[in-house]
Amino acid sequence: MQKVRKAIFPVAGLGTRFLPATKAIPKEMLPIVDRPLIQYAVDEAREAGIEQMIFVTGRGKGAIEDHFDIAFELEKTMSERGRDLSVLTSTRLAPGNCAYVRQQEPLGLGHAIWCARDIVGDEPFAIFLPDEFMVGAPGCMKQMVDVYDQTGGNIISVLEVPHEQVSSYGVIAPGKRDGRVTEVRGLVEKPKVAEAPSNLIVSGRYILQPDVMRILERQEKGAGGEIQLTDAMAQMIGNMPFNAVTFDGRRYDCGSHLGYVEANVAIALDRPHLGDALAASLRHMLNDR
Ligand code: G1P
Repeated sequence: MQKVRKAIFPVAGLGTRFLPATKAIPKEMLPIVDRPLIQYAVDEAREAGIEQMIFVTGRGKGAIEDHFDIAFELEKTMSERGRDLSVLTSTRLAPGNCAYVRQQEPLGLGHAIWCARDIVGDEPFAIFLPDEFMVGAPGCMKQMVDVYDQTGGNIISVLEVPHEQVSSYGVIAPGKRDGRVTEVRGLVEKPKVAEAPSNLIVSGRYILQPDVMRILERQEKGAGGEIQLTDAMAQMIGNMPFNAVTFDGRRYDCGSHLGYVEANVAIALDRPHLGDALAASLRHMLNDR
Protein backbone atom coordinates (compact mmCIF):
# COMPACT_ATOMS: atom_id res chain seq x y z
CA MET A 1 0.00 0.00 0.00
CA GLN A 2 1.32 3.46 -0.93
CA LYS A 3 2.16 5.75 1.96
CA VAL A 4 0.35 9.11 2.29
CA ARG A 5 3.16 11.57 1.50
CA LYS A 6 1.31 14.62 0.19
CA ALA A 7 -1.35 16.92 1.55
CA ILE A 8 -3.50 19.58 -0.10
CA PHE A 9 -4.52 22.69 1.81
CA PRO A 10 -7.26 24.57 -0.03
CA VAL A 11 -6.67 28.17 1.09
CA ALA A 12 -8.11 30.26 -1.72
CA GLY A 13 -11.34 31.23 0.12
CA LEU A 14 -12.05 34.93 0.62
CA GLY A 15 -12.83 34.77 4.34
CA THR A 16 -15.66 37.29 4.14
CA ARG A 17 -17.04 36.21 7.52
CA PHE A 18 -13.98 37.69 9.22
CA LEU A 19 -13.97 41.09 7.50
CA PRO A 20 -12.47 43.55 8.11
CA ALA A 21 -9.73 41.40 9.75
CA THR A 22 -9.30 39.53 6.48
CA LYS A 23 -9.34 42.55 4.16
CA ALA A 24 -5.54 42.55 3.82
CA ILE A 25 -4.49 39.18 5.32
CA PRO A 26 -5.64 35.65 4.47
CA LYS A 27 -8.07 34.14 6.98
CA GLU A 28 -5.67 31.21 7.36
CA MET A 29 -3.16 33.65 8.88
CA LEU A 30 -5.47 34.63 11.75
CA PRO A 31 -3.71 33.56 14.96
CA ILE A 32 -4.82 31.06 17.54
CA VAL A 33 -2.93 32.63 20.45
CA ASP A 34 0.42 33.13 18.67
CA ARG A 35 0.43 30.81 15.66
CA PRO A 36 -1.58 31.21 12.48
CA LEU A 37 -4.35 28.70 11.88
CA ILE A 38 -2.58 27.26 8.82
CA GLN A 39 0.48 26.44 10.94
CA TYR A 40 -1.54 24.09 13.14
CA ALA A 41 -2.81 22.22 10.07
CA VAL A 42 0.72 21.87 8.64
CA ASP A 43 2.02 20.62 12.00
CA GLU A 44 -0.82 18.08 12.14
CA ALA A 45 0.24 16.89 8.66
CA ARG A 46 3.90 16.57 9.66
CA GLU A 47 2.96 14.60 12.76
CA ALA A 48 1.11 12.16 10.47
CA GLY A 49 4.28 11.60 8.40
CA ILE A 50 3.25 13.78 5.46
CA GLU A 51 6.23 15.28 3.61
CA GLN A 52 4.91 17.57 0.91
CA MET A 53 2.43 20.40 1.55
CA ILE A 54 0.48 21.64 -1.47
CA PHE A 55 -1.35 24.94 -1.01
CA VAL A 56 -4.15 25.86 -3.38
CA THR A 57 -4.07 29.62 -3.05
CA GLY A 58 -5.46 32.66 -4.82
CA ARG A 59 -4.86 36.37 -5.20
CA GLY A 60 -3.98 38.12 -1.94
CA LYS A 61 -2.73 34.96 -0.23
CA GLY A 62 1.00 35.72 -0.48
CA ALA A 63 1.38 35.98 3.31
CA ILE A 64 0.97 32.19 3.50
CA GLU A 65 3.99 31.68 1.23
CA ASP A 66 6.02 34.20 3.26
CA HIS A 67 5.05 32.45 6.49
CA PHE A 68 6.57 29.13 5.41
CA ASP A 69 9.67 30.75 3.87
CA ILE A 70 12.93 31.89 5.48
CA ALA A 71 12.41 35.29 7.17
CA PHE A 72 15.92 36.54 6.43
CA GLU A 73 15.82 40.02 8.06
CA LEU A 74 14.01 38.77 11.17
CA GLU A 75 16.37 35.80 11.60
CA LYS A 76 19.47 37.96 11.10
CA THR A 77 18.31 40.62 13.56
CA MET A 78 17.22 38.11 16.17
CA SER A 79 20.45 36.13 15.94
CA GLU A 80 22.51 39.34 16.31
CA ARG A 81 20.54 39.98 19.50
CA GLY A 82 21.24 36.44 20.71
CA ARG A 83 17.59 35.45 20.62
CA ASP A 84 16.28 31.89 20.16
CA LEU A 85 15.46 31.40 16.48
CA SER A 86 13.54 28.13 16.80
CA VAL A 87 10.20 29.93 16.83
CA LEU A 88 11.00 31.07 13.27
CA THR A 89 12.98 28.16 11.88
CA SER A 90 10.40 25.55 12.95
CA THR A 91 7.86 27.10 10.58
CA ARG A 92 10.00 26.79 7.45
CA LEU A 93 9.03 24.47 4.63
CA ALA A 94 12.01 23.69 2.41
CA PRO A 95 11.74 23.76 -1.39
CA GLY A 96 10.48 20.34 -2.42
CA ASN A 97 8.42 20.09 0.76
CA CYS A 98 5.93 22.70 -0.38
CA ALA A 99 4.22 23.75 -3.59
CA TYR A 100 1.75 26.48 -4.42
CA VAL A 101 -0.87 26.46 -7.14
CA ARG A 102 -3.60 29.02 -7.76
CA GLN A 103 -7.30 28.37 -8.00
CA GLN A 104 -8.17 31.21 -10.34
CA GLU A 105 -11.94 31.14 -9.85
CA PRO A 106 -14.07 30.19 -6.80
CA LEU A 107 -15.78 27.16 -8.37
CA GLY A 108 -15.96 25.00 -5.23
CA LEU A 109 -13.89 22.74 -2.98
CA GLY A 110 -13.82 19.95 -5.58
CA HIS A 111 -12.39 22.36 -8.12
CA ALA A 112 -9.75 23.58 -5.64
CA ILE A 113 -8.56 20.01 -5.08
CA TRP A 114 -8.52 19.32 -8.83
CA CYS A 115 -6.22 22.34 -9.31
CA ALA A 116 -3.49 20.32 -7.51
CA ARG A 117 -3.85 17.17 -9.66
CA ASP A 118 -0.49 17.41 -11.43
CA ILE A 119 1.42 17.98 -8.19
CA VAL A 120 -0.35 15.09 -6.46
CA GLY A 121 0.18 12.67 -9.37
CA ASP A 122 -0.88 9.05 -9.09
CA GLU A 123 -0.75 8.45 -5.35
CA PRO A 124 -3.03 8.74 -2.31
CA PHE A 125 -3.11 12.16 -0.68
CA ALA A 126 -4.53 13.96 2.34
CA ILE A 127 -6.68 17.09 2.44
CA PHE A 128 -6.89 19.56 5.32
CA LEU A 129 -9.53 22.26 5.59
CA PRO A 130 -7.68 24.62 7.95
CA ASP A 131 -10.89 26.28 9.27
CA GLU A 132 -11.66 23.00 10.96
CA PHE A 133 -9.28 23.23 13.88
CA MET A 134 -8.66 19.79 15.41
CA VAL A 135 -6.92 19.38 18.75
CA GLY A 136 -5.94 15.86 19.75
CA ALA A 137 -3.07 13.66 20.85
CA PRO A 138 -2.32 12.21 18.42
CA GLY A 139 -3.77 14.67 15.95
CA CYS A 140 -6.71 13.92 13.68
CA MET A 141 -4.66 13.04 10.58
CA LYS A 142 -2.36 10.70 12.52
CA GLN A 143 -5.45 8.88 13.82
CA MET A 144 -6.67 8.58 10.21
CA VAL A 145 -3.33 7.39 8.83
CA ASP A 146 -3.25 4.66 11.50
CA VAL A 147 -6.62 3.39 10.22
CA TYR A 148 -5.56 3.84 6.57
CA ASP A 149 -2.54 1.61 7.14
CA GLN A 150 -5.01 -1.20 7.99
CA THR A 151 -7.79 -0.55 5.47
CA GLY A 152 -6.40 1.41 2.50
CA GLY A 153 -8.97 3.05 0.22
CA ASN A 154 -10.56 6.35 1.20
CA ILE A 155 -10.80 7.69 4.75
CA ILE A 156 -12.63 10.77 6.00
CA SER A 157 -12.93 12.19 9.50
CA VAL A 158 -16.44 12.57 10.85
CA LEU A 159 -18.11 13.87 13.97
CA GLU A 160 -21.62 14.08 15.36
CA VAL A 161 -23.46 17.38 15.33
CA PRO A 162 -27.02 18.22 16.47
CA HIS A 163 -29.43 17.22 13.67
CA GLU A 164 -30.52 20.79 12.95
CA GLN A 165 -26.94 21.69 11.92
CA VAL A 166 -26.39 19.03 9.25
CA SER A 167 -27.36 21.30 6.32
CA SER A 168 -24.07 23.20 6.64
CA TYR A 169 -21.97 20.11 5.96
CA GLY A 170 -21.30 16.95 4.00
CA VAL A 171 -23.14 14.06 5.71
CA ILE A 172 -22.48 10.31 5.58
CA ALA A 173 -24.86 7.39 5.37
CA PRO A 174 -23.18 5.06 7.89
CA GLY A 175 -22.79 1.31 7.49
CA LYS A 176 -21.06 -1.15 9.84
CA ARG A 177 -19.32 0.38 12.83
CA ASP A 178 -16.20 -1.00 14.53
CA GLY A 179 -15.05 1.25 17.38
CA ARG A 180 -14.12 4.59 15.87
CA VAL A 181 -14.26 3.30 12.29
CA THR A 182 -17.56 3.45 10.38
CA GLU A 183 -18.14 2.19 6.88
CA VAL A 184 -19.32 4.94 4.51
CA ARG A 185 -22.31 3.76 2.42
CA GLY A 186 -23.39 7.15 1.10
CA LEU A 187 -22.40 10.82 1.08
CA VAL A 188 -24.49 13.91 0.51
CA GLU A 189 -23.42 17.56 0.53
CA LYS A 190 -25.53 20.01 2.57
CA PRO A 191 -28.77 17.96 2.70
CA LYS A 192 -32.03 19.31 4.08
CA VAL A 193 -32.42 18.30 7.74
CA ALA A 194 -35.32 15.97 6.91
CA GLU A 195 -33.34 14.24 4.15
CA ALA A 196 -30.00 13.82 5.95
CA PRO A 197 -28.96 10.15 6.24
CA SER A 198 -27.39 10.74 9.71
CA ASN A 199 -25.92 13.44 11.89
CA LEU A 200 -22.33 12.34 11.16
CA ILE A 201 -20.70 15.18 9.26
CA VAL A 202 -17.56 15.31 7.14
CA SER A 203 -15.23 17.34 9.32
CA GLY A 204 -12.48 18.61 7.08
CA ARG A 205 -9.83 15.86 6.93
CA TYR A 206 -9.57 13.36 4.10
CA ILE A 207 -7.27 10.63 2.75
CA LEU A 208 -8.27 9.96 -0.85
CA GLN A 209 -7.12 7.82 -3.73
CA PRO A 210 -6.02 9.70 -6.88
CA ASP A 211 -9.07 8.27 -8.74
CA VAL A 212 -11.03 11.21 -7.31
CA MET A 213 -9.12 13.57 -9.61
CA ARG A 214 -10.48 11.76 -12.67
CA ILE A 215 -14.03 12.21 -11.35
CA LEU A 216 -13.43 15.91 -10.57
CA GLU A 217 -12.12 16.30 -14.12
CA ARG A 218 -15.75 16.16 -15.32
CA GLN A 219 -16.43 19.44 -13.46
CA GLU A 220 -20.00 18.42 -12.54
CA LYS A 221 -21.78 20.97 -10.34
CA GLY A 222 -23.62 20.02 -7.15
CA ALA A 223 -24.98 21.80 -4.05
CA GLY A 224 -24.83 25.59 -4.36
CA GLY A 225 -23.84 25.32 -8.04
CA GLU A 226 -20.28 24.41 -6.97
CA ILE A 227 -18.00 21.52 -7.96
CA GLN A 228 -18.29 19.51 -4.76
CA LEU A 229 -15.64 17.16 -3.38
CA THR A 230 -18.38 15.27 -1.53
CA ASP A 231 -20.14 14.39 -4.80
CA ALA A 232 -16.90 13.12 -6.36
CA MET A 233 -16.18 11.02 -3.26
CA ALA A 234 -19.71 9.56 -3.37
CA GLN A 235 -18.93 8.14 -6.82
CA MET A 236 -16.07 6.07 -5.40
CA ILE A 237 -18.25 4.24 -2.86
CA GLY A 238 -18.43 0.55 -3.77
CA ASN A 239 -15.27 0.63 -5.88
CA MET A 240 -12.80 0.56 -2.97
CA PRO A 241 -12.88 0.55 0.85
CA PHE A 242 -14.42 3.79 2.17
CA ASN A 243 -14.34 4.43 5.89
CA ALA A 244 -14.95 7.27 8.32
CA VAL A 245 -12.94 7.82 11.50
CA THR A 246 -14.66 9.51 14.42
CA PHE A 247 -11.98 11.88 15.68
CA ASP A 248 -10.94 11.37 19.30
CA GLY A 249 -10.28 14.98 20.32
CA ARG A 250 -11.73 18.48 20.28
CA ARG A 251 -12.87 20.36 17.17
CA TYR A 252 -13.43 24.09 16.75
CA ASP A 253 -15.11 25.58 13.70
CA CYS A 254 -12.76 28.50 13.07
CA GLY A 255 -14.87 29.57 10.12
CA SER A 256 -17.29 31.05 12.69
CA HIS A 257 -16.64 33.82 15.23
CA LEU A 258 -17.73 31.65 18.16
CA GLY A 259 -15.54 28.68 17.19
CA TYR A 260 -12.57 30.95 16.56
CA VAL A 261 -12.82 32.64 19.95
CA GLU A 262 -13.38 29.27 21.67
CA ALA A 263 -10.27 27.87 19.98
CA ASN A 264 -8.19 30.79 21.25
CA VAL A 265 -9.46 30.33 24.80
CA ALA A 266 -8.96 26.55 24.69
CA ILE A 267 -5.39 26.73 23.39
CA ALA A 268 -4.49 29.51 25.82
CA LEU A 269 -5.87 27.44 28.72
CA ASP A 270 -3.64 24.54 27.59
CA ARG A 271 -0.49 26.70 27.61
CA PRO A 272 1.60 26.24 30.78
CA HIS A 273 2.48 29.92 31.22
CA LEU A 274 -0.91 31.29 30.29
CA GLY A 275 -3.54 28.79 31.41
CA ASP A 276 -3.84 29.57 35.13
CA ALA A 277 -3.81 33.35 34.68
CA LEU A 278 -6.41 33.15 31.91
CA ALA A 279 -8.65 30.81 33.95
CA ALA A 280 -8.59 33.29 36.87
CA SER A 281 -9.33 36.17 34.54
CA LEU A 282 -12.20 34.31 32.86
CA ARG A 283 -13.74 33.54 36.27
CA HIS A 284 -13.69 37.24 37.11
CA MET A 285 -15.18 38.19 33.78
CA LEU A 286 -18.00 35.66 34.13
CA ASN A 287 -18.75 36.74 37.71
CA ASP A 288 -19.00 40.37 36.62
CA ARG A 289 -21.25 39.59 33.70
C1 G1P B 1 -16.87 21.90 3.23
C2 G1P B 1 -17.29 20.55 2.64
C3 G1P B 1 -18.26 19.84 3.58
C4 G1P B 1 -17.64 19.70 4.96
C5 G1P B 1 -17.22 21.09 5.48
C6 G1P B 1 -16.48 20.97 6.80
O1 G1P B 1 -17.99 22.74 3.22
O2 G1P B 1 -17.86 20.76 1.37
O3 G1P B 1 -18.57 18.57 3.07
O4 G1P B 1 -18.56 19.11 5.85
O5 G1P B 1 -16.35 21.76 4.54
O6 G1P B 1 -16.25 22.22 7.34
P1 G1P B 1 -17.86 24.36 3.33
O7 G1P B 1 -17.62 24.66 4.78
O8 G1P B 1 -16.71 24.76 2.47
O9 G1P B 1 -19.17 24.91 2.85
